[in-house]
Amino acid sequence: MRGADVAFSGVTKSYGAFDALKDFELAIRPGEFLTLLGPSGSGKTTSLMLLAGFAFPSRGHVLINGRDVSKVPSYRRDQGIVFQSYSLFPHMTIEQNLAFPLETRGMARGDIARKTADALTMVRLDGFQGRYPDQLSGGQQQRVALARALVADPPLLLMDEPLGALDKNLREEMQLEIKHIQESLKLTVLYVTHDQEEALTMSDRIVVMNEGRIQQTGTPVELYERPKTRFVAEFVGDVNIVPGRVETAGARTCFRSEDGAVAMACPPGWAPDGEAPSCAAVRPEKIAMDLAAGPQGQERGQGHGHEPELGRVRIDGRIREAIYLGQMTRYVIDAGPAQFVAKRMSGPGERRFQLHDEVTLSWFADDFVALR
Ligand SMILES: Nc1ncnc2c1ncn2[C@@H]1O[C@H](COP(=O)(O)OP(=O)(O)OP(=O)(O)O)[C@@H](O)[C@H]1O
Ligand SMILES: [Mg+2]
Repeated sequence: MRGADVAFSGVTKSYGAFDALKDFELAIRPGEFLTLLGPSGSGKTTSLMLLAGFAFPSRGHVLINGRDVSKVPSYRRDQGIVFQSYSLFPHMTIEQNLAFPLETRGMARGDIARKTADALTMVRLDGFQGRYPDQLSGGQQQRVALARALVADPPLLLMDEPLGALDKNLREEMQLEIKHIQESLKLTVLYVTHDQEEALTMSDRIVVMNEGRIQQTGTPVELYERPKTRFVAEFVGDVNIVPGRVETAGARTCFRSEDGAVAMACPPGWAPDGEAPSCAAVRPEKIAMDLAAGPQGQERGQGHGHEPELGRVRIDGRIREAIYLGQMTRYVIDAGPAQFVAKRMSGPGERRFQLHDEVTLSWFADDFVALR
């Protein structure tokens, strides 16, 4: 079965005067794993409910395989749904839970037995047919919920925080399992989470949402490496934000931080004819660190900036905090009034710095992203 093709076209969902979702525009390709990521109340569940047919748009349209389903109720749509709570029937065995959606479709007994057995194999629960839900662990119950969502071969799977109740290890194991199942069945998935690592691990594309609006849509790499707004940069991963502005002096265009310590000759794309950034961002692991050369500390002045340079940003500072985390060390560096976080892997040849070391931080201009 081929995955479904989904489109939200200008969808707004209002509750009274409040818009839970505003002008929502999104196309999900057949076989794509798409994740809605955002803080609490950003409209993730609302979007999923509109696609599930448990809620209906106030304006705009929802299309599945080109057909307008905006007013079609859930039971007339061909999809599987998994919620955070397992919602299995407690008085039915696992086999009866799985058979239920097939029986309601009037499927023949032999086919039901075959399909429920296949679905249990898929989620690695062979031999659990006769148990009741309360005889299974949380992870096993969620596997059954997944098997039940998929037993009727839907082309579309909707999941709302399905791993929210599981501990970290089990969560990570299930993330990969769900991803493998989705890929082998070529399912279209709309997945909801507020966990950015989960979104990065599982998704083909991520939609970052805030206050009912899409902030940015992109692949995990695009969102992490090329965030467009401060909100996205801060929501997806750790980041150093440098407030400042772009200045033009003669033929030179420079980015200068508010405190004057960070200066960079702007590469193309930062030119003032583009939308002027109000700040720039660099990820902690993109920052290289060297012991500062020459006169130290007070003499030279903390947070001393270097002359704007094309292709690289440099700034001096002093290590205020060094936290050893095994595979890496996380440093906090005072650089004038500003603070930077840098992460250095504990790889071969990597130097370990000490508290109060005077250091020069540097990063490539390509890793310095202009934000709105
Ligand atoms: N039936 C409703 N009536 C009124 N307001 C609602 C209703 N359903 C949702 N909302 C509001 O719409 C907004 C978006 O809710 P939604 O459930 O989509 O958020 P979410 O992104 O899923 O958040 P969470 O991560 O907490 O689950 C919230 O402010 C919520 O209070
Ligand atoms: Mg929700």
